[in-house]
This record gives sequence, structure tokens and C-alpha cells, in this order.
Amino acid sequence: MTSPGPFDAGPSLPEPLPDSPFPLFAAWFDEARERMDSPNPDAMTLATVGPGGQPSARVVLCKGLDIEAGTVDFYTNLRSRKGREIEGNPLSALCFHWDTVEQQVRLEGRLSRVSDAEADAYFATRAWQSRIGAWASEQSEPLQSREALLKQAMEQILELDLDIAAAVRGDPVDIPRPPHWGGYRMTADRVELWIGGAGRMHDRAVWERVVSCESGDGGWLAQRLQP
Ligand SMILES: Cc1cc2nc3c(=O)[nH]c(=O)nc-3n(C[C@H](O)[C@H](O)[C@H](O)COP(=O)(O)O)c2cc1C
Repeated sequence: MTSPGPFDAGPSLPEPLPDSPFPLFAAWFDEARERMDSPNPDAMTLATVGPGGQPSARVVLCKGLDIEAGTVDFYTNLRSRKGREIEGNPLSALCFHWDTVEQQVRLEGRLSRVSDAEADAYFATRAWQSRIGAWASEQSEPLQSREALLKQAMEQILELDLDIAAAVRGDPVDIPRPPHWGGYRMTADRVELWIGGAGRMHDRAVWERVVSCESGDGGWLAQRLQP
């Protein structure tokens, strides 16, 4: 056995690597949520690709993780720049970074829409202002002024006949999900788990699988990568 040397301190990935990356990913995610030292542990960078091949990236919140299926969900305006890009090209990438624990998770795969029932259920959990915002904002479109947006929101309150006094009191109010708002689910076919190490001797490994409609998931193949 080689001696540990000066670089080997600190946490590392299991040896041998587990068959699937998702249980470990989910455990890291739970830990990030429990530690409270990261204000937005659910935040992940989503990269999509436009019609000319130009990638674009922005942060969205992870709102679902299925360990068995190897999927990750997020919600957005379907007519936004990202929504339009996804409709044109469902291949995308996601990246989580939990700074305080020096962990990164990268995922690549194909996006599909979550069901209307799932989108309705999640939409109903959002604060009333966020639900009004989903109606009022034509996400990614040009805006004349800040005031114009607030006016759009007030107009939506009137149009939806919202009982604003009840909403402000915190009583439940019925605001339907806009048809242009929904969720996407990434079925990952490439996942990389990364742990920062002393002297840039990071520990990283990648899991890849073939997912097809006909034969389903063929299982993960794992490999450590040089940092
Ligand atoms: C911490 C954080 C969380 C966000 N979560 C979401 C989200 O879950 N869904 C969303 O549509 N936008 C979210 N946004 C806003 C996006 O980053 C982005 O500005 C917006 O979706 C428009 O992107 P697009 O024009 O590329 O479609 C979030 C931004 C931040 C900083």
C-alpha cells in the first residue's frame, strides 16, 4: 500500500465506488440542507442550449429528487428563454455547489415535462405572491420599467379576482397554475460527484448509463477521474 503522504487528509469518495451515484448525491443534499450554513442548498445552475448552439446558464431551485429513477426536478415559466431552449433541445446540464463542504455535483441528461398534476401540486405550495408573480411576469421578455411589472401584478390580482385581504391575512386563497408555468425533470445519464481536497488533490468520480425508452436504464458504470 502507498503511504498516505501529505495530501491525503480530508474526506473522499467511497472505495470502491457505489453502483449508483444517487444515494450519495441525496445524502450530500440532505447534509447541505441540515447544516444551515448555505442559504440556498437547493440552488443549482441549469445550462441549456439555444438554436445556434449557444449555451446559457442560470440558477434554479431543485424541487424534486428521485434516487431510484435518477431524476431531478425544477419549475419555471415554460415560455422563458430556458423554456424555449429546452423545447428546442431537451439535452441539458445541472450543477450544484455546496461551498462550505467543498462538494460539487454535476448532472447531464434529457429533460421532460413533469405531469400537470405534479405541477399543480407544487404550484399550490407556493406563497400567494409567487403564484401571482407566475401569472404577472412574462419571464425573459423585455420590460419597460419596474413600475410596469408591479402594475402587471396588480392587474393579475384583479383579473383573478383575488381576495387580497384574505391573502394578506394568510388565509388560503385559490390561485390556479398558469398554463405557461410548469416543471421539468432531468433523467440523468451522467453524474459527477466531486469533493475538494488539500493541495487541489480533489476526489472526483463519474457515473454514466444508457437510458432508452425501449430498454429503460441499463445500470451505471462508475469511474474515478483525475482532478
Ligand atoms: C437562488 C435563485 C433561485 C432561482 N430559482 C428559480 C427557479 O426555481 N425557477 C426559475 O424559473 N427561476 C429561478 N431563478 C431565476 C433564474 O436564475 C433566471 O433569472 C430566470 O429563470 C430567467 O432565466 P431565463 O431567462 O434564462 O429563462 C432563481 C434565481 C436565483 C438566484
